[in-house]
Amino acid sequence: MQKGKPSRTAWAAAAHRAAHQVLEQGRILPDPLALRILGEDAEAAVRDAEQHPSRRRMRIFIAIRTRFAEDALAATINHGVRQLVILGAGLDTYAYRSTFGERLRIFEVDHPATQAWKRERLEEAAIPIPKSLTFAPIDFEHQTLGQGLAAAGFDSAQQTFFTWLGVVPYLTEDAVWSTLSFIASLLRGAHVVFDYSDPPAALPAELRAWHEKRAAHVTELGEAWLTYFEADRLHAQMKALGFSEIEDLGPAQIAARYFPNRAMNSPDKGGHILRATKI
Ligand SMILES: C[S@@+](CC[C@H](N)C(=O)[O-])C[C@H]1O[C@@H](n2cnc3c(N)ncnc32)[C@H](O)[C@@H]1O
Repeated sequence: MQKGKPSRTAWAAAAHRAAHQVLEQGRILPDPLALRILGEDAEAAVRDAEQHPSRRRMRIFIAIRTRFAEDALAATINHGVRQLVILGAGLDTYAYRSTFGERLRIFEVDHPATQAWKRERLEEAAIPIPKSLTFAPIDFEHQTLGQGLAAAGFDSAQQTFFTWLGVVPYLTEDAVWSTLSFIASLLRGAHVVFDYSDPPAALPAELRAWHEKRAAHVTELGEAWLTYFEADRLHAQMKALGFSEIEDLGPAQIAARYFPNRAMNSPDKGGHILRATKI
């Protein structure tokens, strides 16, 4: 990220969710606040998406990863989850439309510059901040998640769900493992959902070309993609940390789950969405 500046890719992800509401009528992720949080930029974001059909792939992936995480969270509430930590929240709107009220304490963790900018956006859009929400400004590269969350009043004795969407690729591998180790260390158990990509060399040619273009773009924005994982190694290391249940959807599984009636030629490699539980 550029020093002292909010994340540009957080804006881009929010623009994808806003465009999804209009171009696909929010079929995968209905989000009544997605346009509102962008304020007067929303219209241009939708127009831009319409003029660039090649962005659909990323838009749909972002809608699906958010939907997957929110469904997985909902399934754990009846099993005792009382805290949600949204890591690298960007302009995510879940906290402002959660239907669990004060049954679910929510912590939004983000880089301090991005979080300050989000709070301005919320105010401009007159989106009220619910009592259940606490902001925790943390730079993952320079602070431990444990310290940052403790300072924000996080209760490590509560079963907690972590979402970590669109963040892992931007971190160093050390920062990724430090966060996963913290999640695995929670004694009452924890769940995490995050997305990651296979290494570019493993991607089929067409996808690799698309990936290289996107990678060059985010590097220009000062938010380069640094970390990729091979699924087998990632799962083995997570199991070694104590994660017992791992559900990992690669491109083919994502297509089968979200587009079951459409014959799709999905590649084996690409973007993954992973859910893991530590009991
Ligand atoms: C692509 S955005 C994703 C935002 C949001 N999760 C979403 O899906 O819309 C990446 C997020 O990671 C955060 N981020 C990147 N590097 C970070 C760091 N070192 N510490 C804390 N947050 C970081 C950015 O501030 C930004 O909010």
